[in-house]
Amino acid sequence: MKKVGVAILGLGVVGSGTYNMLTEHRQFYMDTQGVDVTVENVLELNRQKALALGVPESKIAANIAEICSNPDVDIVIEVMGGVEPAKTFVLSALNAGKSVVTSNKELFCKHSHELEKAAKKNSCGLFYEATCVGGVPVIRTLLDNLQGNRILSIMGIINGTTNYILTKMTDDGASYEKVLKEAQKLGYAEADPTADVEGFDAAYKLSILSSLAFHTKIPFSRIYREGITHITPDDIQYGKQLGYVLKLLAIGKNTEDGIEVRVHPTYIRSSHPLASVKDSYNAVYVTGDYVEDVMLYGRGAGARPTASAIVGDVLYCATHPTFAYSTFPNTEEADPSAKFIDNFKSAYYLRLNAHDKAGVLAKVSSIFSRHNISLAQMIQEDGGDGTCVPLVFITHRTKEKSIAKAVEDINSTADIAEVVSVIRVVS
Ligand code: HSE
Repeated sequence: MKKVGVAILGLGVVGSGTYNMLTEHRQFYMDTQGVDVTVENVLELNRQKALALGVPESKIAANIAEICSNPDVDIVIEVMGGVEPAKTFVLSALNAGKSVVTSNKELFCKHSHELEKAAKKNSCGLFYEATCVGGVPVIRTLLDNLQGNRILSIMGIINGTTNYILTKMTDDGASYEKVLKEAQKLGYAEADPTADVEGFDAAYKLSILSSLAFHTKIPFSRIYREGITHITPDDIQYGKQLGYVLKLLAIGKNTEDGIEVRVHPTYIRSSHPLASVKDSYNAVYVTGDYVEDVMLYGRGAGARPTASAIVGDVLYCATHPTFAYSTFPNTEEADPSAKFIDNFKSAYYLRLNAHDKAGVLAKVSSIFSRHNISLAQMIQEDGGDGTCVPLVFITHRTKEKSIAKAVEDINSTADIAEVVSVIRVVS
């Protein structure tokens, strides 16, 4: 029986889940994979936490050096999060000849070029299924199963916290602030929710996924990012009336004109498969030139789903004699020949607070027309504050810069209206 020893760096939610899965399923992996995986070390400052989990005292390492010099450790699992000291520890492990499995999206997004270089130099494996969408097996699907396709687009709900918040705002009509507080109480949202609600977490994941999908480095800095903090229940309700559901979408497109990568609140048709992804669930919708549409759905976070991704990588590493790396030159910056589209095309939702008097709609329409923006849907409601009424439009696809200019023109015409919300629409 092949024996494989692992070390776990960090026994937080994910590290503890991984420890439990590996120890509970040890015999199962011997029976089904022909490999005996044992936890040889853990690195955890809180010794009591490790002992409470059942880790024998002798397996609690004092520092990373002890793990790197332990000949019984073949694979180091990094589940600490953050860039440092995780990066130093991962590089130490790779340079000591240990393969690495990580769930650390920020580290992998920002430094995969350095980690991969060290892995190649030392002929080690570097696995990162758990960096993106927790238990949903999207990385290996892109790396292996869909590799024969040119991937045309990848679109996903890849942050559970924001999906939970938007779902509650949609179903209960509650405000962002109220739902965020509830989400924090329930442990879905962090005390400092910035990484999730401002779209950083989704952008780290999109950088990793789109690099793999499009076979070229897509650095974090190339991703347009907008969070959900400005979203109001009114916008969600108007979107509903027009047949749309609001989601924080990560969108990557690879077209003949170039690559688009963006994370922002987006209306999608309520009949789209992604519209039914609710609460803290995640999903990734990939379109390949031969396979057409594939959707992967599941839990994007949590101890057990993320442990599932990590242990999958551990078993893969333990049972495969050679290692695969990125299918593109993994450099810090984008390849100079890669073309990115910043002035991308989209349909748009605009909500205006308009003066309730003759000629306003005609003036707004003429501004749209001046910028060659064609309107697809509209709601005009009585029910403003007496002097103003809400006017809601959905445009046909147009360029980002045209919308920006139209918004500027509307806002500069004081007797017409003010633009309250601008939200992109996937039609
Ligand atoms: N905070 C993330 C989410 C999970 O809400 O989806 C880890 O990436």
